[in-house]
Amino acid sequence: MTTLSTLKKFKREGTKFTCLTCYDAMFARMMDKAKIDTILIGDSLGMVVQGHDSTLPVSVADMAYHTANVARSNKHALILADLPFMSYVTLPEAIANSRQLMQAGAHVIKIEGGSELCDLVSTLAQAGTPTCVHLGLTPQSVNVFGGYKVQGRSDDSADKLLSDAKAVVAAGAALLVLECVPAELAKAVTKAVAVPVIGIGAGADTDGQVLVMHDMLGMVYGRVPRFVHDFLTDERNTEHSIDGAFALYQQSVVEGSFPMQQHQFD
Ligand code: KIV
Repeated sequence: MTTLSTLKKFKREGTKFTCLTCYDAMFARMMDKAKIDTILIGDSLGMVVQGHDSTLPVSVADMAYHTANVARSNKHALILADLPFMSYVTLPEAIANSRQLMQAGAHVIKIEGGSELCDLVSTLAQAGTPTCVHLGLTPQSVNVFGGYKVQGRSDDSADKLLSDAKAVVAAGAALLVLECVPAELAKAVTKAVAVPVIGIGAGADTDGQVLVMHDMLGMVYGRVPRFVHDFLTDERNTEHSIDGAFALYQQSVVEGSFPMQQHQFD
């Protein structure tokens, strides 16, 4: 079974690891078979499962329901679950909501933001709850950003992202997710912190990679994000099966053939 210690060892050794989003029992079982290292019950379920146009409508009860479904059916992966929009504004509500997700089967709680999360990160760490802090393009702040845009392109925003990353790690964050940031910045953050860093649209130099499961199975309506690769129709998936797609993703990340130059932002 993957633990935080496994991921720290991978980082020390330079072994790349995988993460996929997952929301239900059957896919959780298939990811168990493919030995996907970590699973994220992402609030992206608001879009890919519930049909909303953002993650904002997702509730803590939704997250707990999907976390329990996944946790029952996967024994291999370290399980991360998102605290949804506005569910961690105050410490008491953040603590109560984290408890719900941990009791549903999460091993790590993911939260979006920067150094303003330091109190929460250290409070949860002291209470036996590891956190993963999501930086860069944080979809819960889509209305602040004015759209889903690459973050950290100016010197000031890159400096802020790097200092936020260091601050939350100093406060006790166990993992970081970097979404849609220039590959060079992601590389610098990954080098600067001792904890494993998982990237999505952040280049090849983060310690791990994450994709939304539907995206990597080619289930995308409209514009396909630059960082997505369809592993279902990839010719190396000779069976054209979902099992094969998950196994190919695991293999490609570990051997370093995904992501490639065309998947990253400069
Ligand atoms: O909710 C989600 O799926 C995520 C990933 C895109 C990292 O946060």
